[in-house]
Amino acid sequence: MKIQFPTIAIVGTGAMGRGIAQIAAQAGSQVFLLDANPGAADAAQAALQEQWNKLVAKGRIDATQASELVARLHPVKAVADLAGCDLVVEAIVERLDVKKALFAELEAVVRPDAVLATNTSSLSVTAIGAGLQRPERLAGFHFFNPVPLMK
Ligand SMILES: NC(=O)c1ccc[n+]([C@@H]2O[C@H](COP(=O)([O-])OP(=O)(O)OC[C@H]3O[C@@H](n4cnc5c(N)ncnc54)[C@H](O)[C@@H]3O)[C@@H](O)[C@H]2O)c1
Repeated sequence: MKIQFPTIAIVGTGAMGRGIAQIAAQAGSQVFLLDANPGAADAAQAALQEQWNKLVAKGRIDATQASELVARLHPVKAVADLAGCDLVVEAIVERLDVKKALFAELEAVVRPDAVLATNTSSLSVTAIGAGLQRPERLAGFHFFNPVPLMK
């Protein structure tokens, strides 16, 4: 099966970012995890490992599959580490100024064909993209909580 986005970055590894990272890894993508809070990306990886271990205990996946899923998660420390990603999904704090600043920083490092997406609940995607050099590549990519359980 062809994976549409082989490399996905999740920025913001709180409640939503973790769930999005889980389904992205389960879809076969390599998943980079970035959070402004030091240690949060590593904590997200550990929490997802725990999640997959529970699926092993329930017999839904085997231990090898769980190890392969964990190996697809890559905690990183800086926006610059996301340069090679095909898709970046933002799930940070719900503040227009902070999201705009993040996307400006991302746009400076990702490839021209990379897709940027925001998981905003209530902000205008157009407003978030205003000021970007290529606002047309910013998508609203809204997930519902809990992400792994929602269609
Ligand atoms: N919780 C929900 O039910 C829900 C549903 C749909 C959409 N959303 C939206 O998803 C986004 C994330 O929500 P959440 O509930 O996961 O929040 P959360 O507070 O659980 O997680 C946000 C994470 O982003 C990190 N962060 C904050 N600013 C950052 C920055 N500049 N760069 C990198 N990381 C940063 C924080 O350290 C935190 O780990 C928000 O925009 C929210 O409105 C939330």
